[in-house]
Amino acid sequence: MANLWGGRFKESASDLMQQFNESFGIDKRLWYEDITGSIAHVTMLGQTGILLQEEADQLIGALKELRDDIQENPDLLTGDYEDIHSFVEAKMIEKLGDIGKKIHTARSRNDQVTVDMKLYVKKSLKDYQEAVQGLKQSFNEKGQQIDALMPAYTHLQRAQIVPFSYVLDAYVAMFERDWQKAQDAIDLLDENPLGAGALAGTTYPIDRQLTSDLLGFKQVQRNTLDAVSNRDFILDALQCFASIMVHMSRFAEEFIIYSSQEFAFVECSDNFATGSSMMPQKKNPDALELIRGKAGKVIGLMNSMYTIMKGLPLTYNKDMQEDKAIYFEAFDTTMACVTILTEVVRELIVHEDRLNETVHEGYLNATELADYLVRQGIPFRDAHSIVGQMVVYAIEQNKQLHQLTLDEMKQFEEKIEDSVYQSLEPDYIKQQGIKKEMLK
Ligand code: ARG
Repeated sequence: MANLWGGRFKESASDLMQQFNESFGIDKRLWYEDITGSIAHVTMLGQTGILLQEEADQLIGALKELRDDIQENPDLLTGDYEDIHSFVEAKMIEKLGDIGKKIHTARSRNDQVTVDMKLYVKKSLKDYQEAVQGLKQSFNEKGQQIDALMPAYTHLQRAQIVPFSYVLDAYVAMFERDWQKAQDAIDLLDENPLGAGALAGTTYPIDRQLTSDLLGFKQVQRNTLDAVSNRDFILDALQCFASIMVHMSRFAEEFIIYSSQEFAFVECSDNFATGSSMMPQKKNPDALELIRGKAGKVIGLMNSMYTIMKGLPLTYNKDMQEDKAIYFEAFDTTMACVTILTEVVRELIVHEDRLNETVHEGYLNATELADYLVRQGIPFRDAHSIVGQMVVYAIEQNKQLHQLTLDEMKQFEEKIEDSVYQSLEPDYIKQQGIKKEMLK
């Protein structure tokens, strides 16, 4: 393996070490960002006179050529290289000889790899944001199609009546925060680390503002020690992924329960369910279960990155090379889950009759009955207690609250009138309960 740093050594590293050290297999995924960063760097070297303009032009031409070639044939990204940076430099030397050897003037792989990863993370977070928009849209559209009411739960015990769409909307609200978290992460990373050199800048008269502008960063990253040792932007992005994975996993868990025969509220379409090799009747919500499982994986990946970073002194340490495998896997997994959940929900079969049936059972209107008593002039705590006793009575009679006769109700509280029945109607509750400003 041709390394960038052979001069100081009498012998080359063992094969075992070379294999252990290499990251090309993984960081070749940064090829576009590495070339983009290099074009900006060389443009700056030309404009500041650090390289002759003619040398810079030749390098830029060769970098663009390499970019186009790889675009056309990604298989070019093979060979015995330590990492993507070594690969690009080697290609420049192949193409331009001595001029190629000048590309790394006033630069280190430490600022280079950070800039590559920043460009990559920024781009991938934007792709992720777009996918989140699609996910939100799918939840919203399904909500608009379904008119049914359903029980909502606390402690997984029947609590109050809500529209089915309102449950989906709760997840939309989570996804909106997830989108914004990604935006915050993009805003925070938007500083150019290029020009930090290995760690303490460089004696060449570089122009960091110029590379910053060329690469579209908002500003230059001030402290060079911080610039090359910073992986906060990766941690932040991983947190974004862990966050949405938790939200999607909670949805998955909830809807796996709802798709059990005991609930039978929903059913995954055939496209997103699987069967059993032995039990002919089975239809399993595997897509949702996989999302729930993969959430564990993404949280684990975020934890690994935190654990890698927590003991590192300034500045660059090779431990940080692990960031790429972690980031790519977390990003790919999250995107795959967002994509499949978008489709699962788009095709979700909702058993509306069953939902509407359930809201008449389970004393879901007990709170509204207490509120009715309050409107009749009874203090809430007393109303709560009265309704509690009425529920016990109704259970004994094997009746629902709205099935109690007015005489039965009056045994508990004289002030109850015929108007009580309207207050117990699911539709009335829906209209009164969920205020306009709570709906989208
Ligand atoms: N492959 C390395 C990484 O991903 C690039 C930086 C190498 N820097 C160094 N000083 N060895 O972190």
